[in-house]
Amino acid sequence: MQVMNVVEKLITDGKLTKEEYVELLKYADDREITEFLAGEAVKIRKQYYGDKVFTRGLIEFTNYCKNNCYYCGIRRDNRNARRYRLTKEDILECCESGYELGFRTFVLQGGEDPYYTDERMVEIIRAIKERYPDCALTLSVGEKSYESYRLFREAGADRYLLRHETASEEHYALLHPAEMSLRNRKQCLYYLKELGYQTGAGFMVGSPGQTPESIAEDLIFLKELELQMVGIGPFIPHHETPFAQEKAGTLEMTLFLLSVIRIILPKVLLPATTALGTIHPRGREMGICAGANVVMPNLSPVRVRKQYELYDNKICTGDEAAECRMCLEKRISSVGYRLVCERGDAKN
Ligand code: 5AD
Ligand code: FES
Repeated sequence: MQVMNVVEKLITDGKLTKEEYVELLKYADDREITEFLAGEAVKIRKQYYGDKVFTRGLIEFTNYCKNNCYYCGIRRDNRNARRYRLTKEDILECCESGYELGFRTFVLQGGEDPYYTDERMVEIIRAIKERYPDCALTLSVGEKSYESYRLFREAGADRYLLRHETASEEHYALLHPAEMSLRNRKQCLYYLKELGYQTGAGFMVGSPGQTPESIAEDLIFLKELELQMVGIGPFIPHHETPFAQEKAGTLEMTLFLLSVIRIILPKVLLPATTALGTIHPRGREMGICAGANVVMPNLSPVRVRKQYELYDNKICTGDEAAECRMCLEKRISSVGYRLVCERGDAKN
């Protein structure tokens, strides 16, 4: 296979076969290929979103989790994690300061914490939507039943993020204990789409056991699902997990995949993640230049920020929301883009 043929096909068809993706992935550290793909990705995102970069205020409202994913720092077996929960009032305060800073999307993210029953979630969702009807509300609280997702949607939630983590059964079983299944994960994503959520999936780059074949399956899965959002970021080991000694994912592969995802899903809302900013001081700016168009600074109260530790050395855990907002604005304009205050709904 000639790689240029594969690249051309990617651009004209917006998708490849598994074998072709595997071939393309061999060039993830080839300067010429990555620069070419980034150029195409930037062209496409400019066509739909101009020079806008959307911003989402992330509120990490609980780090309790009933799951035990091998990669994650807040897994239930991490007895050394200091656990916290935010009250509805805490959350509304985060929204208030966020709103003043110009955020028009709030993302409620947390571990799978049974304390937040459907009833409590609905109360929180309603309160936010009542006070901020002009804002979009995104949930990221893991696997739930159809009924729960329905109740949240009725209460006013607009969007939902649930990374599929990997589309390969084999790889899924390396990352998760047997009590979790890829089947259920996918089922949840289908429910969310059916309920009319703007839906996001995604995966970690360079997670233990990831192969070019599994990444190819991820890309095929993302394309098939016709998602509005995709979240990818490098895997970063956390010292209190079974993967403490594993290597982190690379900057190069993450940037390469951001470009490929922009090309196969032209209108997707694609964040340059905090994890990307953690493995390189200018990681998020580079992500924007590779095709990403969203940033998600933290709005959580500073007193709990360090405790939402999915991986080691997470950035921005000591900064006030206002500092991050200013800092990001500078970073984004330093690469020729514009951080905007709008809901930033997907164009599909
Ligand atoms: N490194 C990078 N990303 C991680 N996540 C969880 N643990 C890690 C880690 N160690 C990601 C998962 C999850 C999202 C909220 O954070 O993909 O879906
Ligand atoms: Fe948080 Fe730069 S974005 S300090």
